[in-house]
Amino acid sequence: MSAEALLNEYQARVERALNACLPPAGSAPAELHRAMRYAVLDGGKRIRPALVYAAGCVTGAEPALLDAPACAVEMIHAYSLVHDDLPAMDDDDLRRGKPTCHKAFGEATAILAGDALIALAFQLLARAAPPVTDSMRVKMIETLAQASGSHGMAGGQALDLAAAGKTLSLAELELMHVQKTGALIRASVLLGAYCGPNLDQAVLSQLDRYAKRIGLAFQIQDDILDETGDTQTLGKTQGADRARNKPTYPALLGLSQARQIANDLRDAALDSLAGLDGRAEALRQLAHYIVARTS
Ligand code: IPE
Ligand code: IPE
Ligand code: MG
Ligand code: MG
Ligand code: MG
Repeated sequence: MSAEALLNEYQARVERALNACLPPAGSAPAELHRAMRYAVLDGGKRIRPALVYAAGCVTGAEPALLDAPACAVEMIHAYSLVHDDLPAMDDDDLRRGKPTCHKAFGEATAILAGDALIALAFQLLARAAPPVTDSMRVKMIETLAQASGSHGMAGGQALDLAAAGKTLSLAELELMHVQKTGALIRASVLLGAYCGPNLDQAVLSQLDRYAKRIGLAFQIQDDILDETGDTQTLGKTQGADRARNKPTYPALLGLSQARQIANDLRDAALDSLAGLDGRAEALRQLAHYIVARTS
């Protein structure tokens, strides 16, 4: 199956699951619920849920068990985008081809929609159905919390805001990317893997190495597309990083070196799956997609 076909399948699956677990549109408080649904549904590549499903294939997880972590990571991601777009952060007007959540609903509702999505993400994990055990449930909650917090996404966003207008060293830039984006991508792979019966320490280490590498590659490609993409295809305003003087891989190293690093990370990610045979085919496809994508 091609990467696109695979992603389409995962996208359709997670869309159904998200639709079912978000609060119904008409239910009170209706404006908040509409904003939550607006931020999550009908858009986005769903790469994090796809990684949950693909990692679950490696450890033999039942697809039905993967819906909860797939929805949880996408909700944390969608919340991070809503807050990232706020005037106090990147101040963007366009997201996933639509007005940003605060443009459509106002800042206060956008902030609350983000808050409520965090809570719902953890509620979903807390309710993960058997055969997920209590200890696995706690491990999943801990993994997602760690990836979202001050040593993960939120911490990386703090580094990003502090870095605007500054020149970072490559090591500082890498840390910022690993935290703001890599952490949640890594968590997606780990959560999927945890749901399967065939998980041993060696496989987990392989998956973890894969996840760290594609997580960084994903944000480098995001930086590259900010320079080389077009607003229509991206669904968000091209050139926003440069306009805000954000340190990025292309700004620091130039486009061709940034591309080289992303490709090297993809290759290293593929290497870390050695010996996993057909079970890891979906993860391989997604690694190729992450650096080849145009949106
Ligand atoms: C954009 O993420 C923000 C980053 C963390 C780089 P995606 O490129 O996954 O955005 P969607 O979900 O497809 O809209
Ligand atoms: C966002 O990074 C990372 C998040 C945690 C949301 P960017 O600010 O580069 O994401 P885009 O380019 O706005 O999607
Ligand atoms: Mg940002
Ligand atoms: Mg942004
Ligand atoms: Mg970006």
